[in-house]
Amino acid sequence: MQKNIKIITEYWGRIDPLKIEDYLNVGGYVALKKFIKEMNPGKALEEVKLSGLCGRGGAGFLTGKKWEMVAEQKSKEKYFICNLDESEPGVYKDRLIAENSPHLLLEGIIISTLTIGAKKACIYLNGNYEKAREILGQAISQALENNLLGKKILGSEFSLEVEIFSGAGAYVCGEETALINSIEGRRGEPKIRPPYPTECGLFGKPTAVNNAETIANIPYIIQNGGEKYLECATKLFVLGGSIKNRGVIEAPIGLMMREVIFELGGGMSAGKEFWFAQVGGAAGKLYLEKELDAPVLGSGAILVVDKLADIHDLLLSWTGFFRRESCGKCVPCREGTFRLNEIAERLADGEISDRDKEAVLDILWTLENTTFCPLGKFAAVAVRDAVEKLEILK
Ligand SMILES: Cc1cc2nc3c(=O)[nH]c(=O)nc-3n(C[C@H](O)[C@H](O)[C@H](O)COP(=O)(O)O)c2cc1C
Ligand code: SF4
Repeated sequence: MQKNIKIITEYWGRIDPLKIEDYLNVGGYVALKKFIKEMNPGKALEEVKLSGLCGRGGAGFLTGKKWEMVAEQKSKEKYFICNLDESEPGVYKDRLIAENSPHLLLEGIIISTLTIGAKKACIYLNGNYEKAREILGQAISQALENNLLGKKILGSEFSLEVEIFSGAGAYVCGEETALINSIEGRRGEPKIRPPYPTECGLFGKPTAVNNAETIANIPYIIQNGGEKYLECATKLFVLGGSIKNRGVIEAPIGLMMREVIFELGGGMSAGKEFWFAQVGGAAGKLYLEKELDAPVLGSGAILVVDKLADIHDLLLSWTGFFRRESCGKCVPCREGTFRLNEIAERLADGEISDRDKEAVLDILWTLENTTFCPLGKFAAVAVRDAVEKLEILK
């Protein structure tokens, strides 16, 4: 396995993200030119299907399959949405893509939108990402000036408009149906599925929603072919906590957690001893040392926790986050996240009762089995592992 291939981060820090000329000089927009001059949407879709590219937003759904579902819809109006909500604590890879590679992302958005047969794309941006908003806004203007966007792109029959929509930084608005509600001007809360957005999405029209990192892989796939991508696909890892190399690292997909932490991440910070790693952000599972020989799943965020960490602080942080971010639409999550946070407070104060201990198990079951959307289930993940693996209630 090639460990040094870079598809997304290759030019970070080496070219000026505010200058389209810099991107053009390193082969930028060659994929779009190839798409326009040598390919068609059907051929591009075939390449993406061949590439095996799967979503980097957490669920890992096959991108080619999703696009095919939208492309097959008869509707004349369709939409493409780049999901850059990224509201989970400790996860910031998509922001770095927007700030360092705005044109790579934009090129990916243009090709993706044209491939599914849409004429309008929207970037749903975390409202706190002001710098990214400015950079992306400039990139859109420069692409328009260079006829890479807008009417009759590069003299072809393709036309496309890209708009940035700033959310308010709510975690639930990263969920695609809540995100669509938010763009439509409604409360940012999830909708029942089916119908899925691929059939009935933004303004009731077929819509593909993709994570920013997923989209940033598209120019490489179009330029080099799906088969080549299959050999060298990468993933961004966000490393944090008691680890030497903190930050965002691009590495081959399929690496084991142990390799990411102890090789790419450089191992533990000086004087620290590994206790567990939380993998996948605030909604991530906890892994003990003996469980690290498994591939990294989810959004690629890894928080390494050492033996001196205060588990009560972590519990307060996890449960407080979900209590704040629960949208309140369904009772099990609205109440469950609240009660779990209250019990975490009593645990931290040394006032937990036997009744609380029983209640924790009931609440976890309720969150796992009865909530309306995945956010409720996510709220239970780390606490469940803390109960079972770290034995916090004993
Ligand atoms: C509570 C919740 C929050 C989510 N937040 C994000 C997010 O910030 N960014 C993202 O790309 N996907 C997020 N997702 C997943 C999206 O619903 C959707 O699956 C994803 O954007 C699809 O893109 P992909 O196939 O390229 O991964 C979230 C899902 C849930 C349930
Ligand atoms: S599970 Fe939570 S976030 Fe999802 S709909 Fe219910 S209250 Fe809202």
